[in-house]
Amino acid sequence: MKIALFLLTASAFLTGVAWTQTAPAGSADNGKKLFVKDGCYECHGYVGQGTKDGARIGPPPLNLEALIRYVRRPAGAMPAFTEKVLSDADLTDIYAYLRSVPAPKAIKDIPLLDELK
Ligand code: HEC
Repeated sequence: MKIALFLLTASAFLTGVAWTQTAPAGSADNGKKLFVKDGCYECHGYVGQGTKDGARIGPPPLNLEALIRYVRRPAGAMPAFTEKVLSDADLTDIYAYLRSVPAPKAIKDIPLLDELK
């Protein structure tokens, strides 16, 4: 009986561990759609590369919590997006999308730019 209880607890624990490790951390595909639909791209560029109107945010410079906080109460010229417009789940998807963007190459890894130094 004790062993059965132990196995039950252990498997519940392991399932929990497996779940947290594979828990969906947002859908990058959906995030990409929202990024365009909600106009983030207008200032930040289609892959968050940044434009004259908004900073580079792909890959994201902030963690998910900070990104959500920022989008709700942005500084400077960025408009605020309320929970009604973009839920936390939507922003989690956007975050996943931004995380899928490769980091920019270092200048030294781009031969043409390296020549200009
Ligand atoms: C009208 C232009 C505009 C739109 C639309 C916009 N942003 Fe921004 N965003 C900015 C600007 C400008 C900044 C830099 C803040 C500043 O210093 O003025 C910024 C900053 C940010 C930052 C913080 C970057 C950092 O380095 O700390 C995040 C994250 C961000 N935006 C996410 C988003 C997301 C997600 C969306 C879409 C839901 C969005 N933005 C839509 C203009 C915009």
